[in-house]
Amino acid sequence: MPDSEKNIELLFNEKNPYAFNGEAFQTLSNINKSSFSKHFYVESYGCAMNFADSEVVASILLKENIGCTTQPNEADIILINTCSIREKAEEKIRKRLTEFKCLKKQKPELIIGILGCMAERLKGNLLEEEKLVDIVVGPDAYRTLPQLISEAETGQKGVNVLLSRDETYADISPIRLNSNGINAFVSIMRGCNNMCSFCVVPFTRGRERSRSAESIVAECEALFHDGYREVTLLGQNVDSYHWKDEINNSEVSFAQLMEMVAKISPLLRVRFSTSHPKDITDEVLHTILKYDNICNYIHLPAQSGSSRVLEMMNRTYDRDWYLQKFNRIKEIIPDCGVSTDMITGFCSETEEDHKDSMSLMEYCKFDLAYMYFYSERPGTLAARKYPDDVPLETKKRRLKEMVELHRIHSLESMQKEVGKTFRVLIEGTSKKNDDEFYGRNDQNKVVVFPKGNLNPGEYVNVQVTDCTAGTLIGTPLM
Ligand code: SAM
Ligand code: SF4
Ligand code: F3S
Repeated sequence: MPDSEKNIELLFNEKNPYAFNGEAFQTLSNINKSSFSKHFYVESYGCAMNFADSEVVASILLKENIGCTTQPNEADIILINTCSIREKAEEKIRKRLTEFKCLKKQKPELIIGILGCMAERLKGNLLEEEKLVDIVVGPDAYRTLPQLISEAETGQKGVNVLLSRDETYADISPIRLNSNGINAFVSIMRGCNNMCSFCVVPFTRGRERSRSAESIVAECEALFHDGYREVTLLGQNVDSYHWKDEINNSEVSFAQLMEMVAKISPLLRVRFSTSHPKDITDEVLHTILKYDNICNYIHLPAQSGSSRVLEMMNRTYDRDWYLQKFNRIKEIIPDCGVSTDMITGFCSETEEDHKDSMSLMEYCKFDLAYMYFYSERPGTLAARKYPDDVPLETKKRRLKEMVELHRIHSLESMQKEVGKTFRVLIEGTSKKNDDEFYGRNDQNKVVVFPKGNLNPGEYVNVQVTDCTAGTLIGTPLM
């Protein structure tokens, strides 16, 4: 059997698509490159879900005997998995596309494909606008990629941006790209039903649907057996995960799913993202508390601290509801790390509203915060309903104030850990010092420490002796 077929045999088990074996998760670098007739290069932008999707795409193409390369100039097919969340994200992708166009001029047979959210948003317009794009494929149409590539090879440009109500790619074992062999993303659901007025995701990713619990657990088990020690369960709103098994007439909630994954092994850490404040339940919090290997860390985006703005954002909770959820988390899991997303300068936001956001941040003192200024997205509820009337300089000034406030909180949050000892999962060599490892503690804080005789993938207790605003510095206790 030629090498390529052996590789594919290892990657897929047709009889039982959920029966991943250890070798199925070998990284692409282990796969014999010369055995493929063609190669693709993929670049991913946006959220973790997009990165996880690129791993599904790699799996689909590998099955068609198209191997992966990390060098764009070696590729026969270049794919860009795109994000539309803010205007800046799209600008970055357009710039990158111009660079790839130069490659195509030198190599006219090169196929360039746009995948993901920008493909879904702009659809066939991308073929018109970006003359050198050959294929445009939305997030639910990746199974048709091989066919679209074949057609493009005969000169036919192709678009498939059909959204689906049930596609979850549950039967596809993702090929881990750029993996450290320790942490992996596992998609548990797709789409979003929430319709926050600023957000393009419901339009680019379609209706919410959950992936079968059985396939998620099988994927996590296979990862564990292959040496992975941390999985992050991904969805735009993980708390609304719900799987109904029609055959056994059983149902699985997010809390139950987490429990099923946590039971695989106490050595497998479980993280998840993102939680919506309206949906996170006490059941979820008690499950986190019950299992040592479910990390005490919750990403709970607030978006704003002003109830008036939250209502316009259609977040379906107000400031008090958010603060009550925050308090509840700390009551049930006192040492839980909490992070957030915030937007400044949303339509009609006043200085008072901004002060409300700042005071919410002051109250919560988040361990981590992702902060953005509002970027109007065509077609969203806000773009249709409200004028984007806060001047750009005001949006940016408020963002700067917020970033400065958060910097103080994150430093305080790190300083209070000095002197404590944490169990750290070692992820790899520190970027700044070859003699040091880095890893994260339960609360998602990065810890660096001397390597000693330790190895990536091991757990070690580290006593924290110092810190910066982003990193804890420590000594391993042997
Ligand atoms: N599903 C998650 C939630 O409900 O919070 C977040 C999804 S979104 C991919 C990530 C973050 O991007 C959001 O939490 C929000 O803060 C930010 N974001 C989304 N749309 C935006 C926009 N139009 N302008 C600025 N930031 C935006
Ligand atoms: Fe966008 Fe809201 Fe859905 Fe998050 S919950 S993806 S912010 S619509
Ligand atoms: Fe971007 Fe789509 Fe994710 S818009 S943030 S890649 S869901």
